[in-house]
Amino acid sequence: MTIGFFDSGIGGLTVLAEALRRLPTQDYLYMADTLHVPYGTKSKEDVRNFIMQTVESMMTEHLDALVIACNTATSIAVAELRERYSIPIVGMEPAVKPAVEMNRATGKRVLVFATQLTLQQPKYYALVSRVDEQGIVDSLPLPELVYYCEALQFDRHIMEQYFMEKLSSYNLDEYGIVVLGCTHYPFYTKLLRELLPSHIQIVDGSAGTIRRLTALLSRYGIAEGGGSGQVKFMCTSGDPAYIDKLQTALHLLRNEEKTAEETA
Ligand code: DGL
Repeated sequence: MTIGFFDSGIGGLTVLAEALRRLPTQDYLYMADTLHVPYGTKSKEDVRNFIMQTVESMMTEHLDALVIACNTATSIAVAELRERYSIPIVGMEPAVKPAVEMNRATGKRVLVFATQLTLQQPKYYALVSRVDEQGIVDSLPLPELVYYCEALQFDRHIMEQYFMEKLSSYNLDEYGIVVLGCTHYPFYTKLLRELLPSHIQIVDGSAGTIRRLTALLSRYGIAEGGGSGQVKFMCTSGDPAYIDKLQTALHLLRNEEKTAEETA
């Protein structure tokens, strides 16, 4: 079976890494829309068109399921994609609901990081108003972070300065959870763990998304993939240097996982 993963750039790799860990008998196709990354600062109409074009080109690869490994793309196009294609499609949304539930006992606030476009969507407003009865959720767009991530900028000093500046007006003692609501952001989880006070939990949507994918594959009777965790990388610009970057970034994530497991 081949499962497609789609993102504007390298962010969806943070979700693919989880899939490779949990579903090693599937094969994967990873597509980055390099011609149009970043999505988060563009108009809804433009991004909708980019998504439709890119997913259409992915479908020629005979996918058995599709993961929209991008919160922005999900909020804009998941309903339309589900109408258009009959294969199982899993989307992502910022993990606000579990974060609010986890925080109920502590009375602390929740801080959601996501792209501007995600935070502007009616889908996000609807989600927050549904689950946030006590008004404890604050949202912060981090548009520069997608650029840093795409440039594989992991210099500690630069990134620390960036996060400190972004968070300077927040009293972090009031917060219990930070939600990473963009798939690019978990590339910085390790650094954020060091920068944020230790009482703050950091959550992202990867594990939940792969749990939903697993359930859906079982329902469609394709849980036993018969593959070996192979990944074919593609990008809309067709730039071989970008394919190398995707491979490097996935290695980076998987090595970090290994180190985390060894030290656990
Ligand atoms: N990785 C994406 C997300 O989860 C979008 C980043 C972007 O292209 O702005 O929202």
